[in-house]
This record gives sequence, C-alpha cells and structure tokens, in this order.
Amino acid sequence: MTPTADEAPLQVAVIIGSTREGRVGDRVGRWFATRAAQRGDLAVTVLDLADFDLPAGYPGARTPHVERFAAEIGRADAFVLVTPEYNHSFPASLKLAIDHAYDEWHAKPVGFVSYGCRSEGTHAVDQLRTVFTALHAVTMRDGVGFDLLTGTGQLVATDPSAADGLGPAVATLLDQLRWWGLALRDARAARPYIR
Ligand SMILES: Cc1cc2nc3c(=O)[nH]c(=O)nc-3n(C[C@H](O)[C@H](O)[C@H](O)COP(=O)(O)O)c2cc1C
Repeated sequence: MTPTADEAPLQVAVIIGSTREGRVGDRVGRWFATRAAQRGDLAVTVLDLADFDLPAGYPGARTPHVERFAAEIGRADAFVLVTPEYNHSFPASLKLAIDHAYDEWHAKPVGFVSYGCRSEGTHAVDQLRTVFTALHAVTMRDGVGFDLLTGTGQLVATDPSAADGLGPAVATLLDQLRWWGLALRDARAARPYIR
C-alpha cells in the first residue's frame, strides 16, 4: 500500500520492552521494525528502552531521559510494543516506561509482538491491554506471538530473515495499526481528545 501524495506516512514507534542483559528482545524488535519498514507506507522508528535511563517513582523529576521518552511517544501516531512474558506478565522495564508518559498515549493505536518460552506471551499482552485502556489508547485485536522454543520462535531470535512463517500475522497487525492510526490521527486533528 502506498500513501497518497498528500498523506504523511504514519509515524510508528516500535518499542523494545526488555532491557535484560542477554535479551532476545532487541533482535525481535529490529526484525519486526525491518518488516514494517519494508511495506513502504509507514515511517518506522525503534525506541529501545535500554537507551533510556528512566527513574523509578513518579510523578518524579523530568530528567532529560524522561523528556526525550515522552517526546518520542508524543511524536508517534501508533505503537508496536515488543514484549516478552515474565512470570505471566510483561517486564517491569516496560511498565516503568509506559508510566512516564500519559497524554502522549491518548487516542492512539497500540499493537503487540510477544514471545515467551512455552507461551507466546499472551499473558503479557492481556495485561498490557488493561494498562492501555487506562491510558485512553486503542489496542489491536490481532498480534504477532511466538514461542522461542519452537522452530519459528528460534528463527526470529537467531536468523530473522528466515522467519517467513510469521509474515501473514505481521501484515494483519500492521494493516489494523495503519487503519486505526490514520483514523485517529485525523480525529485528533479535527478535535482535541477529551481529558
Ligand atoms: C524472570 C523471567 C520469567 C519468565 N517467565 C515466563 C513465563 O511466565 N512464560 C513464558 O513463556 N516465558 C517466561 N520466561 C521466558 C522468557 O520469555 C524468555 O527468557 C525471553 O527470552 C525473555 O525475553 P528477553 O530475552 O527479551 O528478555 C521468563 C523469563 C524470565 C527471565
């Protein structure tokens, strides 16, 4: 799908949620971002939470890292959260980051790429849906999920270019994200979102 000449491409931020040493999340996030950018109808940036030193405790000091993170969330029209499952939830690093923005999430779509060992990260995604409802965001029905212990999951972590089996799921998620992203971008421009 190619954007029309007068339509700015949707700004999509792919957020890498794990900051764990030895994580696979960075490989998963960059694999997904590359796939998303290949479509040609999205402007994709990667926000790696490992690049942000966000303080615990809020409302807290607006440090330069907090300001930069909130500005990146404010600039984006849509998000894809790349999350592992930790003890049937999502990582603390991701919750800390999410909570450092508020208005910046409002009236924007959020999709999920999730993974785990023996699960596909569905518990993590279920809990993130609840969090994003509180933030006035819209979560996408379909996501991309895989078990790192299966063939496809291992491929994403080791040889992402070969992980073609997930192509249809990636396309469905990005189609939904783009539809909602464009609709909500128009809606926010037409009238300020309610507070
Ligand atoms: C503290 C911890 C808890 C975990 N709990 C789960 C779990 O509940 N379900 C699951 O499928 N995998 C679980 N795993 C496996 C992780 O999803 C897997 O190690 C994955 O690589 C973590 O993502 P990361 O490498 O990007 O940090 C857990 C891993 C850790 C470190």
